[in-house]
Amino acid sequence: MRVWAVANQKGGVGKTTTTVALGSLIAAQGKRTLLVDMDPHASLSGYIGVEGGAQGSVYDLFGAGGSAASVSSLVHDTAYDHLFVLPASAAMITLDRQVGTRAGMGLVVKQALAAVADEFDQVLIDCPPTLGVLMVNALAASDRLLVPTQTEALALAGLERMLRSLGMIERSRGRPLPRTIVPTMFDARTHASRACLEQLREQYGDVVSQAVIPTDTQIREASAAGVPLASWPAARRGGLAYRQLLEELQALPADVMAEAAA
Ligand SMILES: Nc1ncnc2c1ncn2[C@@H]1O[C@H](COP(=O)(O)OP(=O)(O)O)[C@@H](O)[C@H]1O
Ligand SMILES: [Mg+2]
Repeated sequence: MRVWAVANQKGGVGKTTTTVALGSLIAAQGKRTLLVDMDPHASLSGYIGVEGGAQGSVYDLFGAGGSAASVSSLVHDTAYDHLFVLPASAAMITLDRQVGTRAGMGLVVKQALAAVADEFDQVLIDCPPTLGVLMVNALAASDRLLVPTQTEALALAGLERMLRSLGMIERSRGRPLPRTIVPTMFDARTHASRACLEQLREQYGDVVSQAVIPTDTQIREASAAGVPLASWPAARRGGLAYRQLLEELQALPADVMAEAAA
């Protein structure tokens, strides 16, 4: 089982879009794919049409009010083959206050996922934009971090903040977390977009994916319609870019090694 977290401490950069797009493409390869919605705003759950709330969500893994629930008891089927969702709920906002300082709370999600390691081939975790117990859990549970980064000047500050937080988390987990920066909402016609991409490549080199996700209004249309990209053929440019990104990620040596060791 591979686990990828999708995170950036800036909102609106394409985290949820990237999680659903990659997840739907991996599921279409016939791999059992679990999308974990770690954002209390539950936009991924809403996108896929799955309600958390009273029926249970990531919140229940933490056992804040009693015993902790298992991943299996919280996973929902979706309308798409091989694609499953562990939804979010608004209650997750209170987790930092309730369990944030309790010892061992950083590994809750990692341990919960370990119990279903044989049930899923791929897990994708959509993170909230805030650094707290949810983000810490997501990064501790993952073997790769994807950082969608909007190709505009202001986005670079958010990226740097995210990478600083990651450094902190790596020190506490005692081993590095391989990362891939994914340029998103690229518009080749604007100077700002081109300059930003150039700066990203200059500053971060190979950590930046070769695949660049273009601004494609069909991506917005697909999410408004609640349809994952793999099932929305009109998003030709966006779909192609996400396919290229997936190919690149699945070929990465670190992941090949992780799979061989599993
Ligand atoms: N490549 C893209 N082209 C056009 N619109 C996009 C693209 N990626 C995301 N969007 C839209 O931008 C908005 C924010 O994206 P989202 O994935 O929700 O960001 P985040 O999860 O980082 O807050 C959504 O309305 C989404 O449909
Ligand atoms: Mg989001």
